[in-house]
Amino acid sequence: MTKRILTWIKPTDNQIHLGNYFGAVKPMMELSAQYPDAEIFLFLAIMHGLTGLHDGKAIHDNSLNVLKIYMACGVDLKKFVIYNPADVPAHAQLSWVLGCITHMGFMERMHSYKEALDKGKSKEISVGVFTYPILMAADILLYDADMVPVGQDQKQHVEYARDIAQRFNNVFGETFKLPEPYIKPEVGTILGVDGRKMSKSYNNYIWLLDDEKQVLKRVKQIATDAKTVEEPKDPDQCNVYKICKLFLTPEEDAALRAKYQAGGLSYKEAKDYLYEKIMAFLKPIQDRYAQISDQEIIDLMKKNAVYVNELANKKLAEVYKKVWFTL
Ligand code: ADP
Ligand code: TRP
Repeated sequence: MTKRILTWIKPTDNQIHLGNYFGAVKPMMELSAQYPDAEIFLFLAIMHGLTGLHDGKAIHDNSLNVLKIYMACGVDLKKFVIYNPADVPAHAQLSWVLGCITHMGFMERMHSYKEALDKGKSKEISVGVFTYPILMAADILLYDADMVPVGQDQKQHVEYARDIAQRFNNVFGETFKLPEPYIKPEVGTILGVDGRKMSKSYNNYIWLLDDEKQVLKRVKQIATDAKTVEEPKDPDQCNVYKICKLFLTPEEDAALRAKYQAGGLSYKEAKDYLYEKIMAFLKPIQDRYAQISDQEIIDLMKKNAVYVNELANKKLAEVYKKVWFTL
């Protein structure tokens, strides 16, 4: 049987920065290249976003924009079964059943809930935050996913999905395939213009849709040391080089390193080069982005909704039968 991989896009923001590109978008493209024969389910975590942001319109708009940017980056959505779980009622329906066989103590140990508690506003934590891993388990188990590539932060959630599937199988009979959390290889951290991890929380990012003026402003903000033009410089100690390296061929990289080490390269020159490299990278993405319509994405999701509903409803019917909901 074709291997099934489950992955997702979380629309927490309206934009994507270079760190997200190298840390999330590029690995997604690599996933489809790495498993050409697998069926890769790619869902938009739109229902999940409501736990953190009580602005449905923003989540909706972010979702479409983020998907457009993914497509513009070259993620070929046709290679994935991309869908919106909100089009598939079985996600919420299976969550109910799984919730009924999950102990409170189990959910209390989930790091997403514990993190929310640590922020100290226990009265303001929604039930949705508490039960979030149950919805995640439904997301996974409905499709008999073989593999769920996750970062370390989501490992516990996938393990819960596996445990709850096992529990259901033990109590009601063999029904669910046990999913494997697959820990994605670490992608290096992409640095922002201040030398820290590029992140929206640090205001040190370059968005993929930034125009020339914005990129130039960011590049100018990169801190450098006080070495004179003539002095030889260590590229590995320079933030301009560290960001630039992302966009260079091995030959270009070797040439730039040599220039640093020989002396005679000014930081202004290095920044101009970086600016050009970033714009050359962003321009085709931005041109493609301008060509993509929201409707194109909506149509693709609606089309796939028929297929995923078929699969999910089949699994749900099996569950309902096992728990004797069907009269
Ligand atoms: P942010 O830190 O800007 O809030 P998110 O936490 O929303 O970014 O990250 C979304 C995805 O992008 C995650 O898969 C994360 O691993 C990846 N990512 C974010 N920032 C970086 C970075 N600076 N370097 C590498 N990957 C990153
Ligand atoms: N919790 C994941 C995140 O925060 C998103 C997610 C929702 C997910 N459902 C899932 C991940 C099912 C893996 C499997 O990014």
